[in-house]
Amino acid sequence: MSPETNGPAAVIVLAAGAGTRMKSRTPKILHEIGGRSMVGHALLAARAINPLKLALVVRHERDRVAEHVSALDPEALIVDQDEVPGTGRAVEVALNALDADAHLTGTVVVTYGDVPLLTGELLAELVSTHESEANAVTVLTAVLDDATGYGRILRAEDGTVTGIREHKDATEAERSIREVNSGIYAFDAAVLRTALEKVTTDNAQGEMYLTDVLGLARDAGGRVAAVVTEDRWQVEGANDRIQLSALGAEHNRRIIEAWMRAGVTVVDPSTTWIDSTVTLDEDVRLLPNTQLHGSTTVARDAVVGPDTTLTDVNVGEGAKVIRTHGSGSTIGAKASVGPFTYLRPGTVLGETGKIGAFYETKNVTIGRGSKLSHLGYAGDAEIGEDTNIGCGNITANYDGEKKHRTVIGSGVRTGSNTVFVAPVTVGDGAYSGAGAVIRKDVPAGALAVSLAAQRNAEGWVIANRPGSGSAKLAEAAQELTSTSTSPQSPATTEEGNQA
Ligand code: UD1
Ligand code: MG
Repeated sequence: MSPETNGPAAVIVLAAGAGTRMKSRTPKILHEIGGRSMVGHALLAARAINPLKLALVVRHERDRVAEHVSALDPEALIVDQDEVPGTGRAVEVALNALDADAHLTGTVVVTYGDVPLLTGELLAELVSTHESEANAVTVLTAVLDDATGYGRILRAEDGTVTGIREHKDATEAERSIREVNSGIYAFDAAVLRTALEKVTTDNAQGEMYLTDVLGLARDAGGRVAAVVTEDRWQVEGANDRIQLSALGAEHNRRIIEAWMRAGVTVVDPSTTWIDSTVTLDEDVRLLPNTQLHGSTTVARDAVVGPDTTLTDVNVGEGAKVIRTHGSGSTIGAKASVGPFTYLRPGTVLGETGKIGAFYETKNVTIGRGSKLSHLGYAGDAEIGEDTNIGCGNITANYDGEKKHRTVIGSGVRTGSNTVFVAPVTVGDGAYSGAGAVIRKDVPAGALAVSLAAQRNAEGWVIANRPGSGSAKLAEAAQELTSTSTSPQSPATTEEGNQA
């Protein structure tokens, strides 16, 4: 063991199994909870105890698993299991690969790739018990109400662990034992190596059982012991979608509890989902039905929700984000977003700025204090400071082939329904009239208008939609006008009718 690590000689993560009960084209251990694959959780727990080496045993869908693991943890040694089945064989091939340069000495920890709630703390406790008691093998166990399917822990009268019996090989009496093998162990490397040489496939499943190592270690005079955890979730694996969802919910419950302890208000934990990769400051408030994913961060005093989903979004101090779906965006301090707002990647909203109701944004930088309050689209654009974008404005950035940029200065006021046909630039302090279609650059301080003058075809509805509800109302309105304001001039109405 090297002085700078203090951790075990190696952790071996078993991940060769097929996971058929998941009924999925995705390998079981790549299924996610809390925004991270199950094997990603397993690797984090393994790394948390600073092993000198880390190996992962693969077979089923090996290429996809290996690619995923190498991306997450480039230092991990990927080991291929051969056609000999069983957890014993999996550990044996890993040990052989790890022993390639020099025989491992000291503690070797074995974990599973499909046990996502296991923590580094519990693994560290297993290792420290193992080493302080100078055990040959220390197994992590839990006492379950229903132990069906698990290997059972066999103990002598005095309580010492004597071995593990697989469910399929167990007698009725042994099946009534509720203490189960988690499949997570600390082994002395030399004991493990020697015992594995003696493990056979002579059992109900025709597999090399790693569990046989316990009895063999004891026969060889080694001490075998157990660390019993009260926290069954930490040793539970996900074999099907039902277990995946249960583990996901528990994972989320734990994350939320930790954030509440750290000073975050979570109004409704049952409808709030937070990935393990999210960071929150003290005094953040999360309102019901909020999901925070990926690298999302929320700064102090910000309020997110209700009904908001943010992925890779940075929310600034004191900002408010209401009923919003956002990704890849930055929301400045004291800015406000929502309700019913869609922030797409590349949206950067400056301090105290606003993106209001029914707005979609993408690739847009909005300066401090600028407001896009209602109904519009802003994409591939740059907007200066303290600019007010009127209701219904749109950046028409796509010509059918290429995207173009719209640049709008500071202190600009645009009329409702202005369309910016990019590429186009609007100077500081410029105005636009309602409905303006801005095709040419607008100089600083200019008013841009582009609509033809309005023409009213008087009486058009009565003439062209006779008998309709609108026509009747129009006639009634004319009558009212002629009797109240100009009783002597019915001709005006006649002229109107013929327009
Ligand atoms: C195993 C244990 C059992 C324990 C249970 C806990 C053995 C013989 N039995 O049973 O005592 O209660 O785990 O969940 O060890 N794997 C490989 N290669 C293989 C077989 C399995 O890498 O050839 C991996 C799997 O991907 C999985 C883990 O080992 O991550 C356990 O395999 P699984 O088949 O689920 O073990 P069980 O039979 O349930
Ligand atoms: Mg099995």
